[in-house]
Amino acid sequence: MSLTVLRSAAEVRSAVARARRSGASVGLVPTMGALHAGHGSLIDRARQEAGCVVVSIFVNPIQFDRRDDFEHYPRLLETDLAFCGARGADLVFVPAEEEMYAGPQRAFVEVTGLTEQLCGRFRPGHFRGVATVVLKLLNIVQPDRAYFGQKDAQQLAVIRRMVRDLNVPVEIIAAPTVREPDGLALSSRNRRLTPEQRAAAPVLYRALQLAERLSAEGAEHPERVKAEALGVLAGQPLARVEYLEIVDTEELQPVSRITGPVLVAGAVWFGSIRLIDNVLCAPGR
Ligand code: PAF
Repeated sequence: MSLTVLRSAAEVRSAVARARRSGASVGLVPTMGALHAGHGSLIDRARQEAGCVVVSIFVNPIQFDRRDDFEHYPRLLETDLAFCGARGADLVFVPAEEEMYAGPQRAFVEVTGLTEQLCGRFRPGHFRGVATVVLKLLNIVQPDRAYFGQKDAQQLAVIRRMVRDLNVPVEIIAAPTVREPDGLALSSRNRRLTPEQRAAAPVLYRALQLAERLSAEGAEHPERVKAEALGVLAGQPLARVEYLEIVDTEELQPVSRITGPVLVAGAVWFGSIRLIDNVLCAPGR
């Protein structure tokens, strides 16, 4: 199948129905565009597992808590379409804002609890916007599987919970974070870093790696692990820490002891660019 670009939900529905009639299963990779190798790994995985691979590209206005972030979010449609074609996607859904939000949106998805800390604490309404648009995309495409990156660990947990609690018939597949050789997690926002900020940015992963090593060595006290990791970040003057937290992997609540698997997650500003990253740690690993 060659790449087909679709603009409306109705077109997507009929293209997916055609694919299903020919016996294909359907995989969805939701994105906001500015595609990079991290998205590529999701498309590759979908390609391995589904007969029909759908990529959505939509910069979702309702998940941005800052107008300037929405306005400056990179939009590179032609390059993105070539990327999807080269990675073997079948359908790319590129809706206009009016297609996704035809009138005033009155219904939203709220995943409580999991959204109150980490990024949710600093980005009011962000996860409501994410959960709402992802449910809309799932309802439009009705895929068998949908693919998300582990880099956005809280987003992944929120989507898994939404799917579980609302009985959405889809399997959520998580793919590992893809990194630059110096450890920086790939992100569409990386391209907005100045050369100095770009050189400084891997400090976030170095701090997380230290946390990972300490907990693997048996450090049980999250405050100590956190202090060591924050010490690494403090050594980089261009890094302004928003948060660094150690939470459990289900409810994303701070742990008082590291006795099982935990998520160490951080958000750090480099100038006006906010980067996030995380590692999954387990004692004795
Ligand atoms: O991770 C993203 O790119 C977005 O949050 C998503 C899941 C496509 C929803 O807009």
